[in-house]
Amino acid sequence: MATNRGPFTTHHLPLTTHNAPMLPTVVQVQGFRSETHDTFTLALDPPARPITPYSFLPGQFNMLYRFGVGEVAISLSGDPAESGLLIHTIRAVGSVTRGLARLRPGDAIGIRGPFGSSWPLEAARGGDVVLVSGGIGLPPLRPVLYHLLRYRDEYGRVVLLYGARTPADLLYREELQAWRTRGDFQVLLTVDSADTSWRESIGLVTALFTHADFDPKRTVGMMCGPEIMMRFTVREFEKRGVAADRVYVSLERNMQCAVGFCGHCQFGPNFVCMDGPVFCYDRIKTFFDVREA
Ligand SMILES: Cc1cc2nc3c(=O)[nH]c(=O)nc-3n(C[C@H](O)[C@H](O)[C@H](O)COP(=O)(O)OP(=O)(O)OC[C@H]3O[C@@H](n4cnc5c(N)ncnc54)[C@H](O)[C@@H]3O)c2cc1C
Ligand code: FES
Repeated sequence: MATNRGPFTTHHLPLTTHNAPMLPTVVQVQGFRSETHDTFTLALDPPARPITPYSFLPGQFNMLYRFGVGEVAISLSGDPAESGLLIHTIRAVGSVTRGLARLRPGDAIGIRGPFGSSWPLEAARGGDVVLVSGGIGLPPLRPVLYHLLRYRDEYGRVVLLYGARTPADLLYREELQAWRTRGDFQVLLTVDSADTSWRESIGLVTALFTHADFDPKRTVGMMCGPEIMMRFTVREFEKRGVAADRVYVSLERNMQCAVGFCGHCQFGPNFVCMDGPVFCYDRIKTFFDVREA
């Protein structure tokens, strides 16, 4: 659970915090914001909890239920230290996410959560932090950025490597710019393709490692994005000398129950909904190279 100095554990919340974990609570959409041509952000009222106010740890996710269509896992992408609206950034790829894209303020939505493990902010404290994200992999890491920037003096160098398909696909562009201008935080961007107005890198996110300034011996790496990107990123961390037990990945698997009942999200001996989605690479590397282990 969050402490007064911010969220630190890597464990999922105990199920006792969910009175009925399979039952969505109906809440209202308070905000809709278009981020790119296929990606949008929903701001939702938190479920009313009579005893404990809603809180989450960076890396955790909710199950969002679009009535009449279905339910999907979506990471919390807002600031974990702010107790207001629950922020989710979503790419419309299929029936449920397209249904979510049609929601507007005042509409009702079902929500269950928060579920899953969190990023290792405690293990990272005192050292450098390198975050690597591709495409829709940035939203699950954004709560980490909010935390690192809030407690900036408790961490060493902070680096964000972020890749998207084109400049128009970059998420949170104003925030990226604001983070850059702070001067205490290295933000490196790349895209697959761009016209001549693009002044930054073109190519794979892993190529940005050449410009990243961090000390491998005291670095914790965190990554989220397509699995192929994460496989290459893991190798890049290895090449730079970051130990496997200091590298963390967030995995996506098909979620149904999100509470360890159905087995849909099995990954080797793990259930991604309960043991993940954030895993220490050292713990899962045997299965990581096997697609849909
Ligand atoms: C723990 C966790 C956290 C997640 N967090 C987020 C998040 O913050 N934001 C977000 O947008 N998504 C997130 N996802 C992915 C999201 O759950 C899926 O995109 C969603 O389930 C797709 O459901 P659908 O019914 O819209 O599409 P489906 O009908 O299930 O799929 C339609 C098509 O899209 C493809 N597809 C499915 N998922 C993806 C994907 N992620 N990327 C590209 N193509 C895909 C399918 O292969 C299929 O071809 C997360 C998933 C997990 C497990
Ligand atoms: S989604 Fe059912 S066990 Fe993980």
